[in-house]
Amino acid sequence: MRYTRIAGVGHYVPERVVSNHELEKHMETSDEWIVERSGIRERRFAADTETSTDLGLAAAKAALDNAGWKPEDVQFIVYATLSPDMFFPGNGVLLQRDLGIEGVGALDVRNQCSGFIYGLATADGFIRMGMYDRVLLVGAELHSSGLVMTTEGRDTAVLFGDGGGAVCLEVTDDPDGGRLLAHNLHADGRYAEDLAMLAPSAAKRPWFSASMIDEGLTTTKMNGREVFRHAVTRFPQAINEVLEQEGVQASDIDLLIPHQANLRIIDAVKKKMGLSDDKVFANLQKYGNTTAASIPLAFSEAVAEGRAKRGDLICMAAFGSGFTWGASLFRF
Ligand code: ACO
Repeated sequence: MRYTRIAGVGHYVPERVVSNHELEKHMETSDEWIVERSGIRERRFAADTETSTDLGLAAAKAALDNAGWKPEDVQFIVYATLSPDMFFPGNGVLLQRDLGIEGVGALDVRNQCSGFIYGLATADGFIRMGMYDRVLLVGAELHSSGLVMTTEGRDTAVLFGDGGGAVCLEVTDDPDGGRLLAHNLHADGRYAEDLAMLAPSAAKRPWFSASMIDEGLTTTKMNGREVFRHAVTRFPQAINEVLEQEGVQASDIDLLIPHQANLRIIDAVKKKMGLSDDKVFANLQKYGNTTAASIPLAFSEAVAEGRAKRGDLICMAAFGSGFTWGASLFRF
């Protein structure tokens, strides 16, 4: 039988730390409001010269190093981001170009906060069906230059940050060793507009116009309360579903790595699942919400800190724009 194991993991965050107090200089907000509502204390903002592919590339190189792979070992790339360098093509081909591995296929995943889970399930499918033996999966986001740094944009500007994370996935035939066990992927497009950027858009005539900027269509729109309400239900559903798929209990999980959107959402999930603090990883206090990067960035830090160890049963879960959500369970 063919299974997929995680051979390596890595992350990258830009150097520049932006505290809540720094945001106070740009908009009517406060450290207290941000910490109380979200748990976020600071985030990273990319340098002016850094692109979102650069963040993915740095994370990919760290994961390749960790796995002991060379770029030539990569047979396929899956790249999850909502903040690509170009409207098209996606970042996958740009990363492939930067890694110097011409000819290697590259797939872009457009599932926002759930992008990494969708990418993980997709890569697992490719490996298990025998199409590839080694896949590089990257989640990276450059939010900062798209944020509206005024009071008008404060509802989202205080939440998001930049960063990247990556994993190297490879085939194994050992059912008892580390391997991916189960995934589930869900969506409910009725809520597409509740967390979205509406333009540029091929549904508009033309795709781009100055009026789109004036109408606020080119920045993130979020119905925060609706997102929160759905998130606290969908996270436990997806986690329970993946546990049932494998016939294990929540108490069997060594570490839960949820998408890092909001500490209040994570705390609610922790409570509903009956998990103790040491079994749930959170680093959004330092990075804010890095969307498709948040899970691999959290996983990479959990490994570096010794919180995620080889042999552990680990669950990852995400919810976000789409709405899309899902979970993955694996033995590391
Ligand atoms: N600083 C200060 N005040 C603010 C800010 C800010 N940055 N943003 C909004 N406010 C004000 C609002 O204008 C409002 O003022 P009003 O009462 O005078 O109208 C007040 O604060 C309360 O706003 P609410 O939106 O009701 O605040 P709420 O308690 O719902 O918290 C939040 C907002 C943090 C966005 C919350 O709804 C939330 O966490 N939602 C989930 C959203 C999320 O995590 N999105 C991330 C992407 S999706 C994902 O990754 C899961």
